[in-house]
Amino acid sequence: MSHKITRKMDLNSDDFYVEVEAPLVAERFRAGNFTILMTVPHGERIPMSIMKAEDGKISMFIKKLGKTSRELYKELDTFENVIGPMGKPIDIKNYGTVVVASDLVCGHAENYAICKALKEAGNKVISYQTFPTEKEIYPEEVLANDVCDEFHLTTEDGSKGEEGHYIDLLEERLENGEKVDIVFAGGSLPNLKELGEMTKEYNIPTIVTVRQIMVDASGMCGACRVFVDGEMQLACIDGPMFDAHKIDWGAALRRPKMYAEMEKVALEHCKELGRCE
Ligand SMILES: Cc1cc2nc3c(=O)[nH]c(=O)nc-3n(C[C@H](O)[C@H](O)[C@H](O)COP(=O)(O)OP(=O)(O)OC[C@H]3O[C@@H](n4cnc5c(N)ncnc54)[C@H](O)[C@@H]3O)c2cc1C
Ligand code: FES
Repeated sequence: MSHKITRKMDLNSDDFYVEVEAPLVAERFRAGNFTILMTVPHGERIPMSIMKAEDGKISMFIKKLGKTSRELYKELDTFENVIGPMGKPIDIKNYGTVVVASDLVCGHAENYAICKALKEAGNKVISYQTFPTEKEIYPEEVLANDVCDEFHLTTEDGSKGEEGHYIDLLEERLENGEKVDIVFAGGSLPNLKELGEMTKEYNIPTIVTVRQIMVDASGMCGACRVFVDGEMQLACIDGPMFDAHKIDWGAALRRPKMYAEMEKVALEHCKELGRCE
């Protein structure tokens, strides 16, 4: 079944926004779930975080990386398939004061969805969204400022908003003795590792998205395995969010680079065909 793309817009020079008709996914979506996209018949299945699910449509933030995302940006106005919702939603309850933080495309999508769900559950929700510079900041309409109680837009070079990465700003907050009951975060994997090391010192539970390569996304192939507290977990069905203090980060950081050579060849071929830029 083909799914119509109802809105596509640039978020910055690398990332774009896509809204697509997917009523079955939208109806059952819970914060923490993701979707699997097939852009063309027999194409690869790629996982994507969901920012918003409303009126039978889901919205996503997508980075122009390799063949599939670039072809989608340039050529496509439908998806062959939009599957899900996949994965395990977060436990939505009143934790008290919650920090939700992100510094990359997928994390920014999750930031919006998690803030919205936890605010509706009665939490005090503090959102941090970090971008490298002013140039990369997304349009205000898709930031989490409307779905949290306290919003921090930060740039690493200080060109707009507060200066610094969310890890440093959150650490300052904790050093000042401010209360935080739990942290949810997504985005750059090395930064999520560092976040976990920092919050562990303050004994603050920290749940982060571990993006791993997914092939079938149904628990059959083992490609997305993550080791948590010494046990093998599958990001596609047991995750993708796990306790940052218990993840085997060495393995989690190595695995996503496994197919880099093949991805390069696929992108070159797509460019030769004129379907990618
Ligand atoms: C749970 C989850 C949520 C994600 N959410 C987002 C999101 O919101 N926005 C976004 O832009 N990206 C997201 N990703 C990553 C996204 O799936 C890849 O960027 C996409 O598959 C790239 O495909 P490509 O053909 O354009 O690039 P390729 O050249 O094929 O790959 C570029 C890089 O993307 C990653 N990747 C490629 N294929 C897969 C795959 N099948 N599964 C997981 N990662 C892959 C690898 O790190 C790879 O090196 C998410 C991944 C996971 C696992
Ligand atoms: S992607 Fe195959 S088990 Fe998760």
